[in-house]
Amino acid sequence: MEQTLIDRKDLRVSDIQAWDIARVSNCALSEVYLMDCIAGMKHYPDKFFDLAVVDPPYGLGNKLAHAGNGKNAQSKFTDDFKKKNWDNSIPPYEYFIELFRVSKNQIIWGGNYFIEHLPSTRGFITWDKQVYIPTMSRIEMAWTSFDKLPKLVQINNNDSNRIHLTQKPVSLYDFCFDYAKMEPGQRVLDTHLGSGSSRIAANKAGLDFVGFEIDEDYFNASEERFKKFVSQTRLF
Ligand SMILES: C[S@@+](CC[C@H](N)C(=O)[O-])C[C@H]1O[C@@H](n2cnc3c(N)ncnc32)[C@H](O)[C@@H]1O
Repeated sequence: MEQTLIDRKDLRVSDIQAWDIARVSNCALSEVYLMDCIAGMKHYPDKFFDLAVVDPPYGLGNKLAHAGNGKNAQSKFTDDFKKKNWDNSIPPYEYFIELFRVSKNQIIWGGNYFIEHLPSTRGFITWDKQVYIPTMSRIEMAWTSFDKLPKLVQINNNDSNRIHLTQKPVSLYDFCFDYAKMEPGQRVLDTHLGSGSSRIAANKAGLDFVGFEIDEDYFNASEERFKKFVSQTRLF
């Protein structure tokens, strides 16, 4: 399917004014907004998204800044991360209220950090990053709304082309969409876009996608990455 990358600054003007969006860019079936996600979600009706796959700050702060040992793919981002401070606290209760209002199902990475805001579930996903560094977590856990057996997925996380300290592999999102049995044309939300891996996986799977990112540097870098992905897929 041919994709056209369009600068949407001139489209949906009324929405843009109402949302106070600093910048909007869009590919067919794929919209990303440089703005706070709680403010963004307020503009969507109840259960608009079939799936929310999200990766909010875990509240690790400086512990995350010590990730890596200078030899792994993450290390070059830690100085930059210390200046940005986005991982100092988990999202407020209001975030989870909005998330559950706008989506039918949820996969919440770092769910073990948000237990106070989440109901019990058996549908946890454990991701084995296959990276063995003493100062870094070897696994991450996602809370899911699916009444399924807990799952273990093994996907290597040492991508040297990463653009974000906590970038998740596109193939991890491929797994999530498969796990949630998503069908082309269904709608996905990612409230904390980061590097945009979820956006790329959604595009590959033919899913409508909406993403929010509050940091302009990350937003721009993810936009570049997405454009590169779209131009590469056009070649085939
Ligand atoms: C854990 S990272 C997401 C990483 C992402 N899953 C990836 O694969 O690259 C969290 C991201 O959320 C962003 N963020 C923090 N608070 C936000 C908010 N209120 N609204 C939107 N984005 C936010 C941060 O700037 C950071 O890029």
